[in-house]
Amino acid sequence: MEPNDARTILDEELTRGLELIGGSATLDDLERAKVVALGRKGRFAEVQRALGSFEHEDKVALGQRANAVRTELQRAFDERRDELHRAAEDALLDADGVDITLPGRRPRPGSLHPLAIVERRIIEVFTRMGYRVVEGPEIEDEWHNFEALNIPPDHPARTMKDSLYVGVPGLLLRTETSAAQIRTMESQDPPIHVVCPGRVFRQETPDATHLPVFHQVECLAVDEGISFADLKGTLEAFAREMFGGDRRVRLNPDYFPFVEPGAQVAVSCFICDGVGCRTCGNGWIELLGAGMVHPKVLENCGYDSERYTGFAFGLGIERVAMVQYGVADMRLFVEGDVRFLSQFQGAA
Ligand code: DAH
Repeated sequence: MEPNDARTILDEELTRGLELIGGSATLDDLERAKVVALGRKGRFAEVQRALGSFEHEDKVALGQRANAVRTELQRAFDERRDELHRAAEDALLDADGVDITLPGRRPRPGSLHPLAIVERRIIEVFTRMGYRVVEGPEIEDEWHNFEALNIPPDHPARTMKDSLYVGVPGLLLRTETSAAQIRTMESQDPPIHVVCPGRVFRQETPDATHLPVFHQVECLAVDEGISFADLKGTLEAFAREMFGGDRRVRLNPDYFPFVEPGAQVAVSCFICDGVGCRTCGNGWIELLGAGMVHPKVLENCGYDSERYTGFAFGLGIERVAMVQYGVADMRLFVEGDVRFLSQFQGAA
């Protein structure tokens, strides 16, 4: 090989090597390009081997040229390798990356059941008045559910037609939360101010106004000197807290075995203010049963009925929720239709 040929080859190899390196699309391509450009079997290596046979001057000049070409190719190689590394990393990130700038998918928030909302509000009104919350068992015995409440064995409420017995003699699913009155009085002395929320059970065919499982809140106050006026005052305070400032309360005589006298309680309609409308009919919404605790009931719990008096009332949570939210069919509360239930999101 002549020195001139060597110079030409070095120039050509530089151009070709840069092209190969720059054009390699993967790290493997790049390695192959390097072998072609600088490897032992390449033309660059051929020139290097020939250097030894050149005159001193040519040897020095071409030696320097060869070094410059190698340095240049090595630099191009390193640069391209870094580029390909970065590209490979970016591709990996793109492949399984998370785009944190995308708006998140929010879980749909649940909401309280309308009956839970109403129950909580009722409880809140009474606890603010100083009442304590108690709970009784859902499976009751006949003493607490009937006998002690002055409901004798021949009373119609006792029959299998109304009550759900559980297959153990003397035990049934409680038909009213009034049973909690007895348990409370049995376990403590007056003064008593309690509310008992809970599920009650009756043998009913479901329709727009009846369910076999529904909810009540029972209220009981016993102390010396409690009068019918206290009952009315408490009902008025409750009605105003629950349904608005100017509600009036009406009591009509009614019969419940565990109270004497007993009353059916109505609240002046909060929609038409007592004039008469679609919700109420005649201006009054019948809401609950109430009365003065029967002396026999007090005696059944070991209280001296000459010394103590009390009032009690029981209201249906479904009933309150229906008038309050304008729900026409009680079955909606148990069907679990989200389109119905989600309407109560905002209510607290
Ligand atoms: N327990 C009655 C019912 O289930 C409601 C009731 C009426 C409760 C009068 C009372 C009361 O405490 O005095 O229909």
